[in-house]
Amino acid sequence: MRIVVTGGAGFIGSNFVRWVLDSDPGTSVVTLDALTYAGNAENLAGLDPARHRLVVGDVTRPDDVRGVLDSQVDAVVHFAAESHVDRSISGAQAFASTNVVGTQVVLDAVRAAGVPRLLHVSTDEVYGSLAPGDAPFTEEHPLHPTSPYAASKAGADLLVLAAAATHGLDAVITRCGNNYGPYQFPEKLVPLFITNALDGEALPLYGDGRQVRDWIHVHDHCRALGVVLQRGRAGRVYNVGAHAERDNLALAQQLMALLDVGRDRLVHVTDRPAHDRRYALDTRRIQDELGFTPFIPLDEGLAATVAWYREHRDWWERIKSGAYRAYYRAQYGERLS
Ligand code: NAD
Ligand code: DAU
Repeated sequence: MRIVVTGGAGFIGSNFVRWVLDSDPGTSVVTLDALTYAGNAENLAGLDPARHRLVVGDVTRPDDVRGVLDSQVDAVVHFAAESHVDRSISGAQAFASTNVVGTQVVLDAVRAAGVPRLLHVSTDEVYGSLAPGDAPFTEEHPLHPTSPYAASKAGADLLVLAAAATHGLDAVITRCGNNYGPYQFPEKLVPLFITNALDGEALPLYGDGRQVRDWIHVHDHCRALGVVLQRGRAGRVYNVGAHAERDNLALAQQLMALLDVGRDRLVHVTDRPAHDRRYALDTRRIQDELGFTPFIPLDEGLAATVAWYREHRDWWERIKSGAYRAYYRAQYGERLS
């Protein structure tokens, strides 16, 4: 297969590119990525240049997207997005632009090039928030996004479904819970807490820390994406989760035990506005229709993740210092935003 991956220099995208190249020797990948603050070409270092190429380009620019699509491309996997909720609260413009407009640009380009399949990578946050005793979200749950990030992802999902209905585009959507694992930008809870702990800094817990998230290791998410890409039904949405609900306080305590840091490092800070209380996913569809089940228990996955950040201090220190930007700005020039 020839696959185009948008946003492949980010956390999940780079894990997916590595996974797909490892799993199928016959597959080659072109990554299209704008290398925003969250994109790091180092995440793709060491890949065989005969099977993988990084093209720096922006999904909101039709020419950039058309430039990587031709009749030989078998599928597009669309990860490119602004992904951090806190940043969407500080400023939503880039979220509307990349997540909504960028997705429409990708849809138009995929249709024009006749690409046989689009996989749009979405999130459980489009469903909104659950109360403690509520049943997990099914794919039929109404969309009630509360943050600008989640609203922009919901907008993108609706555009994808509209393209499938109106134009018969072969598109599938996945909605996954919170990912953790290697190469995650250290602004998100798990890598922020691990790297702060390793640096002797505080771990900032929002509000009472009782917000519940449904955690999945990124390698399990990648496997699910592979299954949906190959066998998912066109026009359909698939939830992806590992049934590992934890509140943030419990997760922080688990990380602190793995990192051997004391409770005094945990600091309660001002809560995120409109902070969703709980996410949980009903994953019967992907399990029953496509036979997907996750492999990695949360305890093992977190321990492996802590070990990865211990072993890759140079990777995250260059991010925290900003050095990764300077290096790649020099290499790729002023197109970096
Ligand atoms: P990330 O922020 O780590 O990576 C996003 C990537 O997209 C970066 O490489 C960035 O440079 C690129 N990008 C941003 N704007 C772009 C543009 N205009 N044109 C081209 N590239 C652009 O994000 P992530 O955590 O890897 O998430 C990837 C996708 O998965 C997103 O669509 C996100 O909504 C979705 N998702 C994430 C999670 C999670 O827990 N992280 C869970 C479910 C779904
Ligand atoms: O649910 C899937 C979503 O998971 C993805 O769509 C998003 O792209 C991804 O960023 C993630 O969103 P969250 O907002 O859940 O992730 P984040 O790591 O920012 O926060 C996880 C929880 O931890 C959340 O309840 C807020 C809390 N938190 C976060 C940070 C960064 C803290 O308490 N302190 C922090 O410093």
